[in-house]
Amino acid sequence: MSDNHERPTYPEEQKVYAGMVRKKLRESFVLTPKACVVTYGCQQNVSDSQRIKGMLSLMGYGLTEDKHEADLIIFNTCAVREHAEDRVFGNVGATKNLKRAKRGLIVAVCGCMAQQKSVAEKLKTSYPYVDIVFGTQVTHRLPEFVYKRLSGGKRVFELALDNERIIEDVPIDRENKIKGYIPIMYGCDNFCTYCIVPYVRGRERSRDAQDILKEARRMVSDGYKEIMLLGQNVNSYGKGNADGINFAKLLRMINDIEGDFRIRFMTSHPKDCTEELLDAMKDCEKVENHLHLPFQCGSSRVLKAMNRRYTREKYLSLIEAARERMPDIAFTSDVIVGFPGETYEDFKETLSLIDEVRFASLFTFIYSPRGGTPAAVMPDPVSRQEKGRWFDELIKLQDKIQKEYDESLVGKTFRVLFEEEAPDEGYLIGKTDTIINISVKADRSLLGTFADVKITNYDGTFSGILEK
Ligand code: SAH
Ligand code: SF4
Ligand code: F3S
Repeated sequence: MSDNHERPTYPEEQKVYAGMVRKKLRESFVLTPKACVVTYGCQQNVSDSQRIKGMLSLMGYGLTEDKHEADLIIFNTCAVREHAEDRVFGNVGATKNLKRAKRGLIVAVCGCMAQQKSVAEKLKTSYPYVDIVFGTQVTHRLPEFVYKRLSGGKRVFELALDNERIIEDVPIDRENKIKGYIPIMYGCDNFCTYCIVPYVRGRERSRDAQDILKEARRMVSDGYKEIMLLGQNVNSYGKGNADGINFAKLLRMINDIEGDFRIRFMTSHPKDCTEELLDAMKDCEKVENHLHLPFQCGSSRVLKAMNRRYTREKYLSLIEAARERMPDIAFTSDVIVGFPGETYEDFKETLSLIDEVRFASLFTFIYSPRGGTPAAVMPDPVSRQEKGRWFDELIKLQDKIQKEYDESLVGKTFRVLFEEEAPDEGYLIGKTDTIINISVKADRSLLGTFADVKITNYDGTFSGILEK
């Protein structure tokens, strides 16, 4: 549904809309308007929700986690697996009764799932109580959408995916004073055959390095201690930008910002992971000693069918190259079990890769067909039940490796960042740069600071003591 008038640009026009929303709410005697934002999916969505919350605050909404209390409910959705989508439809469906109880309640659905035409269509026809549906590239226009609906306009459906320039300076509510995300790129051009992300997030676009550096500097001067750089494939950061700054160079530039803080990043694609990047990781003292490097499958034959564009051998040589430079580096990864056409022999190669690399932790998924992707129409003879058995076998192996890995850390000392209070009174959770959480008896005043901690015990979770 495009407008006839010229496309509003951020921030000026949206700021005006936000002011109009505030006025409208006052006129309707909604004196303390509240919004509830429900977020599904990956860090990219969490980061988008922080911008949604920033805009909500500009519109005068306070935040609540209680849907019964809300005047506006926004579901920021994920489409990566079927299970994620089912949950969203269930929760959106439940707002029907809330709407009956509260006149004027506005319900919005956005994010990756909403971006799919079939889903938007289903929301339009079968969920008449959903007021606003918007896609992943128009999030910054939220004030406009809310204003239109509040002032009695038609339901809003806005799914434009035109891969235009990235909108900078959208207001943001990071909700946390210690760690924060910086998206460095949006979209994905890789088209792994199982994956919906390139279709719902659009083409790969990198932010300008100067914008990223400005944001990082501001966060450091605001006292942030951990910056996490986000992108579906951070290793291809900078493609298409004129300044020649690639991801390795960007890491070095952020590392050069003065201050005591830590740099993390996600996600690295093995096909674009270079020695230049591993060198930068080694040289940059602020960059974590951890690499999240999804391998997806241990069989080169299946990797080819997945269009991952690396082989098992290439993956293992990257792991080795990283370990040569950083002997204690922690690896984490994503793995899919039961890709169409995968045999038990292929799956055994996944097991042997896991055995060889010894990941500190794994995100494990059973293949979920996504409409519109090439894999969804590939022959898939193995039953779901059989895939479930393979999956259990993988979990068993990983549990054993992880236990051995975790136990080997007892007695070692790590520099941790105290990120939050532990459930036990008087204890804080400290995170290492290998992303292990340790519960430590420590004063609240140490929150947001770094300290050396010795791991004293492991029983499924780590505990440790402050080193004097
Ligand atoms: N850009 C990141 C991953 C984004 S999606 C990367 O390339 O690594 C996060 C993870 O979800 C993927 O790594 C993959 O393991 C999993 N995934 C994606 N599509 C899936 C599907 N159709 N079925 C099962 N798992 C899937
Ligand atoms: Fe999906 Fe592949 Fe892009 Fe990751 S790199 S988002 S798995 S298409
Ligand atoms: Fe899901 Fe979209 Fe992230 S599909 S995993 S929320 S990019």
